[in-house]
Amino acid sequence: MCGIIGYLGERPALPILMEGLKRLEYRGYDSAGIALQTLQGLEVVKEKGKIAFLEEALGDNHSAATFGIAHTRWATHGPPNRENAHPHLDGSGEVALVHNGIIENFNSLKRFLEDQGIEFVTETDTEVLAHLISFNYKGDLEEAVQRSLTQVEGTYGIAVIHAAHPGEMVGARNGSPMVVGIGEKELFLASDVAAILAHTRQVIYLDDREMVTFKNGEFNTKTIQNEEVDKEIQRITWNLDSIEKGGYPHFMLKEIFEQPTTIANAFRGRLIEDEGLAKLGGLSENMEDLQQVERLVFLACGTSWHAGLIGEYMIEELARIPVEVEYASEFRYRNPVLSPRTVAWAISQSGETVDTLEALREGQRKGARALGIVNSVGSTIARESEGGVYIHAGPEIGVASTKAFTSQVTVLAILTLLLGRMRGMSSRLGKKMVQELQAIPDKVQRILEMDDQIREIAEVYAGVDNFLYLGRGINYPVALEGALKLKEISYVHAEGYPAAEMKHGPIALIDENMPVVFVSPLGGTNRKILGNMEEVKARGGKIIAVVNEDDVNASALADHTIRIPETVDFLSPLLTVIPLQLLAYHIAVLRGCNVDQPRNLAKSVTVE
Ligand code: AGP
Repeated sequence: MCGIIGYLGERPALPILMEGLKRLEYRGYDSAGIALQTLQGLEVVKEKGKIAFLEEALGDNHSAATFGIAHTRWATHGPPNRENAHPHLDGSGEVALVHNGIIENFNSLKRFLEDQGIEFVTETDTEVLAHLISFNYKGDLEEAVQRSLTQVEGTYGIAVIHAAHPGEMVGARNGSPMVVGIGEKELFLASDVAAILAHTRQVIYLDDREMVTFKNGEFNTKTIQNEEVDKEIQRITWNLDSIEKGGYPHFMLKEIFEQPTTIANAFRGRLIEDEGLAKLGGLSENMEDLQQVERLVFLACGTSWHAGLIGEYMIEELARIPVEVEYASEFRYRNPVLSPRTVAWAISQSGETVDTLEALREGQRKGARALGIVNSVGSTIARESEGGVYIHAGPEIGVASTKAFTSQVTVLAILTLLLGRMRGMSSRLGKKMVQELQAIPDKVQRILEMDDQIREIAEVYAGVDNFLYLGRGINYPVALEGALKLKEISYVHAEGYPAAEMKHGPIALIDENMPVVFVSPLGGTNRKILGNMEEVKARGGKIIAVVNEDDVNASALADHTIRIPETVDFLSPLLTVIPLQLLAYHIAVLRGCNVDQPRNLAKSVTVE
């Protein structure tokens, strides 16, 4: 979604802001802009489209300004064009504001401001806030921002500057992340650590309804109710390499190939092989709750929701605890029945998805314990959970989630072991689970070595406009995930279904133009799925089958067979998903799509 970076220091701000914007590109955006504080006042340049167009518009601008703010916009109110791009100005051009989030009461505020004679030039909700700050300004910028924020409803991460206050910047957050970076004689304000990591590792995360003011080279944090708050300075431990492509043409491909390592990172130090046990440090305070838990409710969106579905299969089968997997966006607006013996468990790569965050808060309000499975350290969901597990996948930059998914599934497998052993799972089964899990990274590596073969299959189907993905049991969510990967990066219509559901409707679509991807490793429901393959075959459909190395039956029916190593049924999603990620990737590349930043999508969805 939208991205913010602000800089205040002794170096020229322009290159720092532009570099920061590029680091935020992965979040998804459709226009970009910058405001610099110069001796003549504020200099604002904005452009529709990619950052490269903004660079073009800036031409050979070598501004010496050491102070400014910049933004990548993902349109919510008003189309993506230059006018609606941020920064937004007040009528006098003295206040410049960049904003992530949505001002929900912008209509009533706009009417009020129009009644005062203020004219609007854009269709955005953000412009309202720029005018409101200006309206409330009586010589003190911080006070004007503070007062304005008490009048707005909605979500925001903002950075504000004023022509009459060189060297002063005010930032604030409510529901949209903001981080302060503390460098040597310089300060940064950003919506994402990636934007400032090249310059500093010392950060402070703002919490909801908090603000920060940079003034005279120092910063001060308080609530928007004007109470001082002392914030802890945290140190970022991951490095710049992890947010660069490292020789791969796309972040997505790099992240797919990182999976042997990221899966190992997700289980490292968490398995006790001799005893067939798991330990998860982040849950040490919650062990009593977990002993007594009656029901788990996973709350998630998109790919994380698919991981949750796999968790449901694992935990119900092996730990015998009832599990529900809820779309966070639905859960937050219904009236779910929860109790203190329910654990509401958010699953989120970014830890900032607003629907997941709000669902978790709703779960907590209704009396459930609130836990998290999160990738981004220090993210809002991580901080608001009562305990939880980091998946340690490192920064995921490609908009299409790949390594985070397999790390989430790995953590859910460890959780299954932990909960299962609390509830009567034998140490023999526990040891087997540990050994099988430890063997997964090598097996993933072997599948990655089949990349050329998968690209050849992609070449055959790159021109097709519809795909069906079918799986059963624990591989049904993998079918959903394979279809999601394809549609989001290649814009090919793809649907995932439980294989046996095909004959209740989707079978009507099958003909020679409809490739069907079967996810069917041995074990579980493999034999049943052969019947579904026959049904597709009989109607002329093309079959791409992800099967185990010695599955002769499925191979005989398939037009293309991707043979993967065998593992126990409940871990098979960690292997079956890899060819589907590669297939989607190659089809998208062959169709000329922007793999890392697909149209209309954002990496982390921080608006409803
Ligand atoms: C996955 O490829 C998607 N881009 C998307 O579905 C994503 O998984 C979803 O928005 C949830 O994000 P989160 O894990 O950061 O909460």
